[in-house]
Amino acid sequence: MSGELSPIDKAKYVAARRAADLVEDGMRVGLGTGSTAAWLVRCLGEMVRDDGLKFRAVPTSTRTAELAREVGIEVVTLDEARWLDITIDGADEVDDDLALIKGGGGALLQEKIVATASDQMVVIADAAKQVDTLGAFPLPVEVIPFGMQATRALIEEMLVSMDVMGRDTAWRMNGDTFFVTDEGNRILDLDLKRIGNPRQLSMVLNQIPGVVENGLFIDICDQLLVGYGDGRVELRDINAGTVSEDRVTFVDEENLFSDLND
Ligand code: A5P
Repeated sequence: MSGELSPIDKAKYVAARRAADLVEDGMRVGLGTGSTAAWLVRCLGEMVRDDGLKFRAVPTSTRTAELAREVGIEVVTLDEARWLDITIDGADEVDDDLALIKGGGGALLQEKIVATASDQMVVIADAAKQVDTLGAFPLPVEVIPFGMQATRALIEEMLVSMDVMGRDTAWRMNGDTFFVTDEGNRILDLDLKRIGNPRQLSMVLNQIPGVVENGLFIDICDQLLVGYGDGRVELRDINAGTVSEDRVTFVDEENLFSDLND
């Protein structure tokens, strides 16, 4: 990557840069998926190279695993790590209770497994991800290919009795073919516009046999780090009930990770 970063990339970068400081020697760390998480992986790679930081990482997708290896991070499986000290990941939406919509990148299943196998989950985001009510971002649901149209019909029928504003659903596509997750499944995106009761919706969705998991992360995220284009980072800790602010200083942007292809 070269040239001036956009304000949104600066915001993602500073959130990621601040979160990277939470990683200490000897930790087992879950690495999220998406553009914000990619900044984190690059920051951590730089700390491995320049500062000798030593930790083991469990990526949440093939993409993240490739990038982590590329920047020199030691990658292990979740079964090898057994349990994680921290998982740091992005989000598509986050509300005041730190409930999330995730899965815009299609990695929600591994992301949820990894996050729930961690002592703490930290979400890094730009301010645009903060919402009063979840649902403007289509909710991804991971569905097993067998009987997927029947599963879709069951989901649509179930939505009629849910507190949501929209009920359109669409299979996620990759060109002319279905998008396939790392686990070989499909993603059904639910355009709900407003989700009145995320906890109830999540539980009911997961009771449908063909549904593997959904992108609602409830009571999973412990800390939110929101980055801003001017270098500010707001830190919210849901357990401590605290909000604080920090600042990340930009190094020469022209040279930020210039050795990496984005
Ligand atoms: C990946 O499946 C998602 O859950 C991502 O964490 C989410 O889409 C955030 O991505 P960005 O950081 O690219 O916005």
